[in-house]
Amino acid sequence: MSQTLKGKHIVLGISGGIAAYKSAYLLRLLIKAGAEVQVVITPNGKEFITPATLSALSGKPVVSEFFAANTGEWHSHVDLGLWSDLMVVAPATASTIGKMASGVADNMLITTYLSAKSHVMVAPAMDLDMWSHPSTQRNIATLAKDGVEIIEPSSGELASHLVGKGRMEEPEEILRRVEKFFRRSDSLKGKKILVTAGPTYEDIDPVRFIGNSSSGKMGFAIAEEAAARGAEVVVVAGPVALQLKDSAVRRVDVRSARQMLEASQAAFEDCDAAILTAAVADYAPETCSDTKIKREKTGDMTLRLVRNPDIAATLGAMKGERMLVGFALETDHEHENALDKMRRKNLDMIVLNSLRNPLAGFNKDTNQVTILRSDGLETEYPAKSKRQVASDILDEIEKYSKRND
Ligand code: CTP
Repeated sequence: MSQTLKGKHIVLGISGGIAAYKSAYLLRLLIKAGAEVQVVITPNGKEFITPATLSALSGKPVVSEFFAANTGEWHSHVDLGLWSDLMVVAPATASTIGKMASGVADNMLITTYLSAKSHVMVAPAMDLDMWSHPSTQRNIATLAKDGVEIIEPSSGELASHLVGKGRMEEPEEILRRVEKFFRRSDSLKGKKILVTAGPTYEDIDPVRFIGNSSSGKMGFAIAEEAAARGAEVVVVAGPVALQLKDSAVRRVDVRSARQMLEASQAAFEDCDAAILTAAVADYAPETCSDTKIKREKTGDMTLRLVRNPDIAATLGAMKGERMLVGFALETDHEHENALDKMRRKNLDMIVLNSLRNPLAGFNKDTNQVTILRSDGLETEYPAKSKRQVASDILDEIEKYSKRND
């Protein structure tokens, strides 16, 4: 077996479900692939599989209690969280998923999760009714939003003899996902990427502006996914209420389209690619009043608007070998309009958000896109979380940039 995971530190979290017997096999696969694995098991997990089996396979004592039984020594979940390059919770029961989603840190697995700086994957395993319960689905959605990768359970016969969705994914498939994660984690190493995100605000006076309801979520998800793949990322963000979870991403906050253009042009100079997710206001008031406009003094009024610079077209004109990706949100003739935008702005790719799908668009946590490439290739994706959409977009960008290699 090839050493695809050589030198990688993996925390394997095991919670109390019958699928825990498969975790021993998963552990063996990870070790055979060269990983160093530290098992953390919940008290209920030990009812299903013994720590002796797991420590024999991993070559390390299994961590379970906050304090070692014989010496009283404190196990540091913080050290473990920092040591880990990846944490995989398999099986993840409904209870463990709920505790992870709400931060109920009453066992070592959860405290390790809360301290982990690394990527986290969960492989749920439970009965079909527990899986489909709104509470579980809510918790899964929360974890996905927190950046946790969900390895969806498969369908089949369950421990209860019922048949349906809830079986933990097979260890071979989990191994494949782990290998993919590590392959991906340096796929953009050495690349510099600019992302524009959020709306722009065009001031009318000190307290009023023209703006739109873009949340910036899609742009921030792309920035974080690109950083997770090893890229150096700068986000030029309009006014958004979001925090970046990855402190390695450089953030430049701007307000107006003109400021966004200036910051983007400067950053684009030494970038390899730019992904323009911002919903830039097309028009700005010709003048901005220094003082608050008073209703009594003004009466009816007309705002004269002037066209804002087109950031995408400006970068398109200077791009050379660099890659430029735009977004389009259309109400009609969406396909035609998106292709036209790609050509006009000299983009390599355009991501069309479907307005017809209720899971797509502004302020949502999900999106549904079609990616159109300038070489004519086109892929339509199903609705997914914005982080997963970000991953699809970056996969497409990587494929596109390698097409001539
Ligand atoms: N864009 C930009 N600067 C602008 C307007 C748009 O960089 N002033 C970028 C957006 O970030 C997006 C793409 O161009 O990636 C398409 O945006 P959209 O608003 O759909 O394009 P417009 O040219 O404004 O077209 P429309 O007439 O449909 O508003």
